[in-house]
Amino acid sequence: MKETVLKEFEKVFGDTEGVKVFFAPGRVNLIGEHTDYNGGHVFPCALTIGTYAAARMRNDRKLRFYSMNFEQLGVIESSLDGLKPEKEADWTNYPKGVMWAFGERGFEIPQGMDILLNGNIPNGSGLSSSASVEVLTGAILRDFFGFQVSNQDLALIGQFSENKFNGVNCGIMDQFAIAMGKKDHAIFLDTSDLSYTYAPVKLQGAKIVIACSNKKRGLGDSKYNERRSECETALAELQKVVDIKSLGELSEEQFEEYKSAIKDETRVRRAKHAVYENQRTLKAVKALEANDIAQFGQLMNASHVSLRDDYEVTGIELDTLVEEAWKVPGVIGSRMTGAGFGGCTVSIVEDDAIDTFKKQVGEAYLAKIGYAADFYVVEIGDGPVVL
Ligand code: GLA
Repeated sequence: MKETVLKEFEKVFGDTEGVKVFFAPGRVNLIGEHTDYNGGHVFPCALTIGTYAAARMRNDRKLRFYSMNFEQLGVIESSLDGLKPEKEADWTNYPKGVMWAFGERGFEIPQGMDILLNGNIPNGSGLSSSASVEVLTGAILRDFFGFQVSNQDLALIGQFSENKFNGVNCGIMDQFAIAMGKKDHAIFLDTSDLSYTYAPVKLQGAKIVIACSNKKRGLGDSKYNERRSECETALAELQKVVDIKSLGELSEEQFEEYKSAIKDETRVRRAKHAVYENQRTLKAVKALEANDIAQFGQLMNASHVSLRDDYEVTGIELDTLVEEAWKVPGVIGSRMTGAGFGGCTVSIVEDDAIDTFKKQVGEAYLAKIGYAADFYVVEIGDGPVVL
């Protein structure tokens, strides 16, 4: 891949003098969905697929971007002066947002850049191609300009840029999983204080299989922000009867005791998901530690049911992929992953059932939805690197 991006860089920008190549992964969340903006726990991991960049400094303040994934857009130009989100800037609003966010943190970017990207994460798939680009941009800026920032800072700056520059009120999970990724480990992160531990993912003769629905969506046009504000309203209602800072502080029993304070049936279900999903995540991490993969899988399945019925972020595409997966012998667990409304599912599938899984789920999906799903057997990888 290094050769590919260098070659393309030369074609697009003339030569490769001063160019360095970088990589940042994508991520998949194993369990703990829509808990990260509710002060709960998440359990994601970085992948070995992600985004590659070839980049160099310029002697002026110009920014030139090119993506091999959006060749039709050609070179998109901008400037370090007056960085602001623009519709016609398309995907470059992500790297531009990170440059702006560094500036807000007091890190002045002294020189413009030429940046070429090539990602092997399916776009809009829910494997965080945008967070990957954000962390990647941060890693490039840190390397070229010597900014003293940790990988955790790269995650926070990426999230800040997405919230304030790109207008999506996402939590910290995606950027954190990508910036802090560790090969063969998932990250057990408490989003209330950012404390975390790494848990080895030993699947004993099974693999992580991603099924991509190919239903395109971006968080911006989804109901993501709406769910977030429903949870905030439910929290405010609960705070009238119980002293909590976030939904993640409640046990299932406490939720049942206090839930009548929430004055709307829909909001009760939204908050219930946030509370129960957080508890499921705690149980799932314990199950994995105890090598109880079957229990881990059951909790993944229960997570999907809750996201489908209470949080209502699945949709026919994701439900079809998951419900068909549950029918295949050798599937240990299957659920939607990421924000939902399209994107991907994550399944743990025994090695000798993977071919049947792809065939059976793929055929049923095509028959019902009318277009094909894509399947990827993935591996857990490290955070951002200079190649
Ligand atoms: C998106 C957001 C994350 C998280 C998930 C849902 O991926 O970027 O912060 O909220 O949705 O778990």
